[in-house]
Amino acid sequence: MNISRAKGTKDIFFEDMKIWEYVEENIREICLKHNMNQIRTPIFEDTSLFSRSVGNETDIVNKEMYTFLDKGDRSITLRPELTAGVVRAYIENGFSSMPSPIKLWYTGTMYRYEKMQKGRYREFSQFGIEVFGSESYLADIEVISVAYELFKKLGLLDKLVLRINSIGCSECRSKYIIALKEYLADKIDNMCDDCKTRYVKNPMRIIDCKQDKCKEAKQNLPMITDYLCEDCKEDFENLKSTLNAVGMNYEIDKTIVRGLDYYNKTVFEFISKDLDLAVGGGGRYDTLVEVLGGPHTPAIGFGLGMDRIILLLKEYNLVKESKNVDIYFILQDSNAFTKVFNLVEELRNLGYIVDMDICGRSIKAQMKYASKINSNYVCIIGDEEVKENSCSLKNMNTSEQVKVNLSVNDISNNALKGGN
Ligand code: HAM
Repeated sequence: MNISRAKGTKDIFFEDMKIWEYVEENIREICLKHNMNQIRTPIFEDTSLFSRSVGNETDIVNKEMYTFLDKGDRSITLRPELTAGVVRAYIENGFSSMPSPIKLWYTGTMYRYEKMQKGRYREFSQFGIEVFGSESYLADIEVISVAYELFKKLGLLDKLVLRINSIGCSECRSKYIIALKEYLADKIDNMCDDCKTRYVKNPMRIIDCKQDKCKEAKQNLPMITDYLCEDCKEDFENLKSTLNAVGMNYEIDKTIVRGLDYYNKTVFEFISKDLDLAVGGGGRYDTLVEVLGGPHTPAIGFGLGMDRIILLLKEYNLVKESKNVDIYFILQDSNAFTKVFNLVEELRNLGYIVDMDICGRSIKAQMKYASKINSNYVCIIGDEEVKENSCSLKNMNTSEQVKVNLSVNDISNNALKGGN
């Protein structure tokens, strides 16, 4: 019986893995420079964490979660997103008594039972940040700027558009929901079944619906930005003028409400200009810590789809060429192996990519392998070289060959430092 991967999952290896590592290195570097701390939380959590934070009436909780009873009859869910887990960790580990703001970042896999399509998987990864303890729009700028910097560094910035909106506070939203329901009252009967349920349980979700017959009914929908209170309006104005002042381009998209219930005020998404894909999204969630049992703590964050970032890097040919092996040691026998073992380690410690025969194959077979893996140099050590304490260095691009002492200095001076 052949066993294959579960639907919606993938194996990442060889060249693709190098692209992932390249993206992850950039993420780590940018987060470090922003004085952020990495956090890792469990892949599975108590199911109620997600129903209470993401929201019972969202597609994620309603339709997409991988939920099961464990052997102790606890309802467990594979995390469909990471904000909820980070907030749980914030409360459980007493982060609120530490100097604020607290700036956290993470990468990790998450799980949603979704319909498969390009860039949409059932197991996918996000890079996310969550910043706790600032009510100010300045924190919004800081958070958005991290994603902005990453996209700039990867060469993706001009392929994406940053769309922002404000969905106000609970006061703005309750006024808006009355207006929204009034507007839809004579249209809802002709809308899809999901929207009929949303109309009763969570009317703002109707704005997200992509069904054609619902789109028609929503043509002149009232917009949340027209219902913002003075504070929320001022915050949104400040955010926009500061984004302008620091040179971060954006568009206002009054239809962004996000598919998770915990958001308020600023919400935003990074959308691919050419592919119909959201590469990332986020926003404020000033009440979530309290909802989950912690003290009042304003917060904001984002999640970027790593699989989608990698898809775009490949689509636009922005993938950096990966480094070849610098030098491959071709060894006559196990004596030669023992002779070079420590020297190989020294070369690796100097930062070179060094490989050596571990199969005991013939010299000819080892040469063939070194050529196939595109090693820049080979270092041949036969019986004669072992006796003389020497080695034959061959430049694989020019075929030039020299005999040098078997020492780190001689090898690096004649091959590695000299390039090829
Ligand atoms: P989200 O919009 O659900 O937000 O997901 C963020 C990003 O994850 C999406 O923009 C997309 O790039 C990627 N993504 C989502 N689902 C899939 C999938 N099935 N396959 C591949 N990529 C996917 C959140 O998850 C929030 N927790 C973000 C956040 C953090 N808000 C505040 N802090």
